[in-house]
Amino acid sequence: MEDINGNITGLGTLEAEYEKEHARKMAVCFRTYGCQQNVADSDRMAGLFLQAGFRLTDDVGDADVIVFNTCAVREHAEDKVFGHIGALKKLKEEKPGLVIAVGGCMVQQQHVADRIKGSYPFVDILFNSNSLQLLPSMVEQRMRFGKNIYDISTDFSIDESVPVVRSGKYRAFIPIMYGCNNFCTYCIVPYVRGRERSRTPQAIEEEFRRAVDDGYKDIMLLGENVNSYGNRSGFGESFPDLLRRLNAVDGDFKIRFMSSHPKDAGEEMFRAMGECEKVARSLHLPVQSGSDGILRKMNRNYTKEKYLELVEMAREYVKGIYLTSDIIVGFPGETEEDFQQTMDLVEKARFYSLFTFIYSKRSGTPAATMEDHVTRQEKVERLTRLTALQDSISAEYDSAFLGTSQRCLICGVNPDGTHEARLENNAVVTVSGPVTENEYMDVPITSLERRRLYGTIPEE
Ligand code: 5AD
Ligand code: SF4
Repeated sequence: MEDINGNITGLGTLEAEYEKEHARKMAVCFRTYGCQQNVADSDRMAGLFLQAGFRLTDDVGDADVIVFNTCAVREHAEDKVFGHIGALKKLKEEKPGLVIAVGGCMVQQQHVADRIKGSYPFVDILFNSNSLQLLPSMVEQRMRFGKNIYDISTDFSIDESVPVVRSGKYRAFIPIMYGCNNFCTYCIVPYVRGRERSRTPQAIEEEFRRAVDDGYKDIMLLGENVNSYGNRSGFGESFPDLLRRLNAVDGDFKIRFMSSHPKDAGEEMFRAMGECEKVARSLHLPVQSGSDGILRKMNRNYTKEKYLELVEMAREYVKGIYLTSDIIVGFPGETEEDFQQTMDLVEKARFYSLFTFIYSKRSGTPAATMEDHVTRQEKVERLTRLTALQDSISAEYDSAFLGTSQRCLICGVNPDGTHEARLENNAVVTVSGPVTENEYMDVPITSLERRRLYGTIPEE
């Protein structure tokens, strides 16, 4: 049997025995939370399970193995996962052979791993997604020997032999680097994902070409901080070099990437973005706060002024670029004046859209021990003011699309026969009329209702 990467594979004996007995393959179901990096990890795990002789299912009831790929970035994300794992207790009682595996950022925190071991004994496997290639054999061991396996040891090497089965039909995620060295004081990521390590340009290009050959027209490069791509790697290729390398690949596609840390983003990257016609004019540049005092306490290594200079530079090199950002409100000690600085920055930066978060205390991070006198009510109120401001800015952009024609990638069909499509800035448009899925088409934008754009392609 050949897998999607052209590797010759053999069924694992346990899986083959099962298939013979039940006249169907064992099924694995993924539940993926959090960022695109996790989606990319799950796509790799799916490839490994297919290689081992499983089939994929979306239905937990149909599954022989359920894999939770978790997120730890905010408490809310963790609560959601605990809720969903807890809900499986009954299913496990009815189907004792079911294997439940939990991995990802949450379980890399010792206190969470301990809580799962103590309070969720029906979870069979805890695994480290930095060595996700081990998971299928852990599942097989669990099935054969019936003993729970808890292996969250930190092996942070990159295994390039892992196959990929993409869950997204229209967008391919390609990790270019893993981990983070920045230690922003609120953030758990460096503790759970380990230090930065980059994939080789050759491995990235190979995966990229395969995605293009498979018909993907929207390809997103992933890394906690893509701007430090290649640092300390010894292969002498920076992120702008990588953009140029991938831009030279033949095909009708757009390249996107996230995230960029403002302290490392600069002229070289903007020049490359401006010169590479296949790189989308869209940039996610998380600012987190507009107050210099808070930025210092966050260990972000830039000021509000420096950030606004970057915004100006981006607009100079990449004409018509759409910027998006992340902001945390209610960081420990954030005063009303600090918050006003954030509002002022948002007024000036004119983001296309903004992801806003209330600060969430992550145990083990430096911010968790900082004095926090801001009440929950104040935080919620700040979030409301911030989103109202951003909504009015976003509405200006959206109104400007009315009456124009925009090149969009046509994606999935809705139940009413309309299609969803993506603009270059990543916004979603609902399109009616004759369209071809997974093609770029010029869509006349005809209306805007409650922040949703509509377009109509005239019948021929
Ligand atoms: N609390 C709230 N938001 C956070 N983020 C990261 N850590 C936290 C936290 N502890 C946000 C940041 C980051 C985005 C992915 O999540 O804004 O850019
Ligand atoms: Fe977290 Fe900062 Fe690293 Fe982003 S750059 S992952 S916010 S530590």
